[in-house]
Amino acid sequence: MFYEKRKLLENLTGVNSSKLNYYVELKSKNEKIVKQNEGLGIINQIVRGVNIDMTIGDIVKRAYSKIALAVPCDFLGLALLHKDKLYMKAAMPLNLNRSNPIPRESFLWECTITEKNEVYDSVHTEDPFITENPELEGKICSLVVAPLFIGATIQGILLVGSKMSFSYSPTESNFVKQLANQLTTCILNIKLYKQVSRANCEWEATFNALTEPISLIDTHFNVLRNNDHFPIPTDSDFSKGDKKCQKCFTLLWGRDERCEECPMEEIIRTGKPVDKRIQKDSGETFDISYYPVYDELNKLAGVINYIKNVTYKIKMEAQLIQTAKMAAIGEMAAGMAHELNNPMTAIVGTAQLMKRERESGDGESELLSDIILSGLRCKKIIQNLLTFSRQDEYPFAIIDLNKEIEGALNLIRYQIDRSEIEFIKNLLPKVLKINANGHRLQQVLVNLLINARDALDGVKREKKIEVSNSVYEDGNEKKWVITTVRDTGIGIASKDLPKIFNPFYTSKEAVNGTGLGLSVSLGIVQAHGGTIEVDSVLGEGSSFSVILPVCVDNCLKMCD
Ligand SMILES: Nc1ncnc2c1ncn2[C@@H]1O[C@H](COP(=O)(O)OP(=O)(O)OP(=O)(O)O)[C@@H](O)[C@H]1O
Ligand SMILES: [Mg+2]
Repeated sequence: MFYEKRKLLENLTGVNSSKLNYYVELKSKNEKIVKQNEGLGIINQIVRGVNIDMTIGDIVKRAYSKIALAVPCDFLGLALLHKDKLYMKAAMPLNLNRSNPIPRESFLWECTITEKNEVYDSVHTEDPFITENPELEGKICSLVVAPLFIGATIQGILLVGSKMSFSYSPTESNFVKQLANQLTTCILNIKLYKQVSRANCEWEATFNALTEPISLIDTHFNVLRNNDHFPIPTDSDFSKGDKKCQKCFTLLWGRDERCEECPMEEIIRTGKPVDKRIQKDSGETFDISYYPVYDELNKLAGVINYIKNVTYKIKMEAQLIQTAKMAAIGEMAAGMAHELNNPMTAIVGTAQLMKRERESGDGESELLSDIILSGLRCKKIIQNLLTFSRQDEYPFAIIDLNKEIEGALNLIRYQIDRSEIEFIKNLLPKVLKINANGHRLQQVLVNLLINARDALDGVKREKKIEVSNSVYEDGNEKKWVITTVRDTGIGIASKDLPKIFNPFYTSKEAVNGTGLGLSVSLGIVQAHGGTIEVDSVLGEGSSFSVILPVCVDNCLKMCD
């Protein structure tokens, strides 16, 4: 009875109906949340499958294959703004490549400008970008448009369409908006990644394009990166460098410990780039530049090390300097010789005239003979100076080697005699005809003779210079002429021997030596297809042999 009364009361007061309403509402809310969760799950699935190699077309295709699980979808399109123009970048069911921009008066442009997430329930669009999709049979009747934003800037729109009218609820419209947000992030990430990797590739290509070794080294001497152009291909100690050990002193110089002359400390102290030039025992010369590299906290992180082989360049520079030096000496000598030639002609001529008037055996006549002989000798020296200073092109010709040796000796003889050096000449008593440039060969011999004289400077022992030559035939029946300048001077230490042909290597004081003589001489002899060989014992003396080949048989004629 009591129970029935209560039921009646509940019916009359409406408690039952509000309870029912409450449950209905709860149920619909619950369904909404479930749907939203499902939607988020699907968005998650779509985004998870996106990777950096995908194009926008691939992303839209992937989204299209999943989206129907969350909302009705017969059409999915993604339009992007580029330089104030709107392009349909990708659309499904058929991913047409549309290169023309969407016309400004069109419905899609309007949707973009409004920047709103909207549902259009009766789309009267004849927009070709939707209607011309041949895979889409039928007409799109409802459409959700969601703007794609990066920050506050609109980038384009995402379109989800259905052939049915009134297909989309606000929840579904919200789903499309969330999907649009996620897709924007994906597209932005891919774009950024591609930009970074393109920049990286460009840097790597620049790094590798350099043909010289370049590396990034940290302050603990670890080589962090290099362009695979080292170890420097030179003498054996470089090849000791084990590529697995990434210390710069090992990789670059084949050492177990840091180099004594390493400029790292100087760079840490000054923060400024350092340039160095090093010369290996082999004669190869390298210019090394160290540029400091700073991290984001402006702290020195390491150095860029750039190595350039300048051996050829400095050889050319040496040739130029020597040529300029020779040209200057030649010009001066030519001037002097020219000025002296006329008075000498007059002196010799007058002496000859005076002698003719004297009886032979007369004391004065003998004095005049001395004047004539000395005068003639002076004229010969002048002639040599003129030959030496000739400024023409110096072409090769068949010449007599002994004549050139005599020419060189005449130029230097006075200096040798003045230094109280015994001079021995041991030349083959034959005409040695070779194909060469006489002036250049004289230049070589003068260099060797001056070096020999310098080596005897201050020597207490017997001072001797010997110039000799010989001919020999090698195993291939090839003939060679060897001209040797031997001295009993100070000699060369065996550790210095490999360096003497290096340009600018000199043991003499700056005023006496430029260190170019031998390098230029070697260059000249090599240009003749020959070489210079050295034999020296410290404290005993040296001998320099100029070896010249004879390529054609009749170039070397030995006539008695
Ligand atoms: N006959 C020699 N005896 C001993 N040392 C020599 C002899 N010839 C050359 N040298 C060594 O080789 C070095 C290089 O010789 P090179 O002729 O190239 O230059 P330099 O004589 O010093 O200067 P320059 O450019 O004026 O000739 C010399 O400084 C010297 O140390
Ligand atoms: Mg010299």
